[in-house]
Amino acid sequence: MRVVVAASARSAARVAADLVEEFITASPSPALGLATGETMEAVFAELVRRHRDEGLSLAGVEAYLLDEYVGLAPCDPGAYRSVVHRLLVRHVDLRADAVHGPDPAAADLAAECARYEQQVRVAEVGLQLLGIGSNGHIAFNEPGSPLDSTTRVVVLSDQTRTDNARCFPAGQAVPTRAITQGIGTIGAAGRLVLLACGRHKAASVARAVEGPVTCDVPASAIQLHPSVTVVLDPAASSRLTKRVADP
Ligand code: F6R
Repeated sequence: MRVVVAASARSAARVAADLVEEFITASPSPALGLATGETMEAVFAELVRRHRDEGLSLAGVEAYLLDEYVGLAPCDPGAYRSVVHRLLVRHVDLRADAVHGPDPAAADLAAECARYEQQVRVAEVGLQLLGIGSNGHIAFNEPGSPLDSTTRVVVLSDQTRTDNARCFPAGQAVPTRAITQGIGTIGAAGRLVLLACGRHKAASVARAVEGPVTCDVPASAIQLHPSVTVVLDPAASSRLTKRVADP
């Protein structure tokens, strides 16, 4: 595992965008795994900037979402598909129909999870972007999730719902359930890039990177993957005890 501590949150996003750009430009048919959430917003913004100013093309990319809330209309601004359209697709040449995700409005959610699991596995995601929850989740695999879990409906923890309330207008409840790729699904990607910024992530980053691999800290499963880059700002790295690489 390579751990990179950038000088700031902004440069951490640039390092993550560098890795995405390298992957997209090197691969003839890039299957890119997208995370969402506040941390990814700066990465999307940097990809948009590179498209606008430097001609970076995402035209050949097929993108796969990690997770989606259950119970929100597809056009709800809080739905992750909407977020990706608003912050990325609208501003670059990534085709709208090249963004894939689970359908949280499917009549049979178990069948939908099986369908999406199969779709992601067949796609062979080459690079998967990841954030991390303050409770150590990756995607919406909450503490206690089996390390070999696959795409399924999960109940969100109180911590995650509290953390994510900032992404919803006052008065709108954060959904209680989501569809998420499993830890096993994520582990099948060719390369993992986990980005975390801010002091509120420092404890979960330290447990994920330096603690034991345990389902109590789902992100610790990245230690089992052969190709992982963890990109941090100084605050998120503040509880690490071992040497880290320069950006
Ligand atoms: C969402 C996802 C989540 C977030 C995590 C961090 O698609 O995969 O695991 O990455 O909750 O969210 P932020 O960046 O909002 O702190």
